[in-house]
Amino acid sequence: MAEQRKLRVALVGLGRMGQIHAKNYAFLVPRAEVVAVCDVRDASLEWAKENLNPAVQTFKDAEDMFKNSGAEAVLIATETSKHAPLTELAISNGLHVLLEKPIAVDIESSRRVVEHSQKYPHIKTMVAFNRRFDESNLALKAAIDAGDLGKIHLFRAWTADVYDPSGFFINFSKSSGGLFTDVGVHDVDLARWFTNMPSSCPNPKQEVSKVFAVGQQVRHPELRELQDADNGDCIIEFTNGTTAVLHFSRTGRNGSETFIEVCGTEQRVAVNPGAEKNKLQIRDKHGVRTECHQTVMDRFKDAFIRELQVFTDCVLDDTPLPVSLEDALQASKVCYALTLSFRSGQPVYFDENGNIIPPSAANK
Ligand SMILES: NC(=O)c1ccc[n+]([C@@H]2O[C@H](COP(=O)([O-])OP(=O)(O)OC[C@H]3O[C@@H](n4cnc5c(N)ncnc54)[C@H](O)[C@@H]3O)[C@@H](O)[C@H]2O)c1
Repeated sequence: MAEQRKLRVALVGLGRMGQIHAKNYAFLVPRAEVVAVCDVRDASLEWAKENLNPAVQTFKDAEDMFKNSGAEAVLIATETSKHAPLTELAISNGLHVLLEKPIAVDIESSRRVVEHSQKYPHIKTMVAFNRRFDESNLALKAAIDAGDLGKIHLFRAWTADVYDPSGFFINFSKSSGGLFTDVGVHDVDLARWFTNMPSSCPNPKQEVSKVFAVGQQVRHPELRELQDADNGDCIIEFTNGTTAVLHFSRTGRNGSETFIEVCGTEQRVAVNPGAEKNKLQIRDKHGVRTECHQTVMDRFKDAFIRELQVFTDCVLDDTPLPVSLEDALQASKVCYALTLSFRSGQPVYFDENGNIIPPSAANK
């Protein structure tokens, strides 16, 4: 059998997430070959030398890598505040882009990335919403699209990261867009995907009528100064008749929980309600219990691999991407409205063109 052509892939940003992507791309995506990696930190490049094929080129400057490594596609997994300029640079240099979520920390930069990509229609750019590639979420989506749940009216989600006493996410807050964007964008994207937005909305330009969010600094009062929270709750009223009720937390005690529930007129379906890591049931001095995943990286281990495989197939076979940049922009917009609501204490409304009405203007 003739050997299949492999996609030549590079990665920028080899931190917590980038190292997982690099190993997955290097060893678990048969149609791809990692040709180069880039990080501004020496420690990350040392990690690459120890963990990847020695032939992989290492760079400290992304533009140098885009121009000189021979890569055809790049996975960008730097902190979010660097996403927009790197994505635009990669696209301008002719590389297909798989970008970690969200597009950027603010809406203007996100919109600029979308507009820039539109100038290069032959380049494929996808935001890595890994939860869309989870086996259970894919099964739920298929059931929804087959009409099994009936008319969907409620989406609930509980997304909790295990508490990290080092306070990593306090520094991270400045470059991540804060709790409602960094954590919330996954669940807002799922709500949009499950309910087929924007086509399910009477006016596809306006997906949301209003949102309301509250937040707390349960363990980290320092977050108040950054106008961020370690726990947040929100309600989103979508114009397609679905309400989303979401809880985000960075202070989970037992592990990483990503519970979702979709309520329709015919069925109510939950994914991961018990948060069990496996089928073990342990009986000991604590009673009867199960264990749960400690991180989202463990929980979505297979989804992280599948998203790389799907992106690679789409580029090599020139087929449409399953997530559009416009999807990612819309999800970010809702998350920004949640942040505004949390900071102002007001509900935030959207106009008929889908633009956020700033809370002060809405109250006049
Ligand atoms: N999908 C998920 O579930 C999930 C989980 C965690 C993080 N993420 C996303 O992944 C991204 C990275 O998060 P992280 O926790 O891995 O961050 P991190 O801080 O651990 O890693 C970022 C890396 O990027 C490098 N970097 C920064 N600027 C660079 C540049 N200009 N050129 C080259 N390298 C550069 C840093 O040196 C660092 O090694 C974020 O956007 C985050 O939202 C997604």
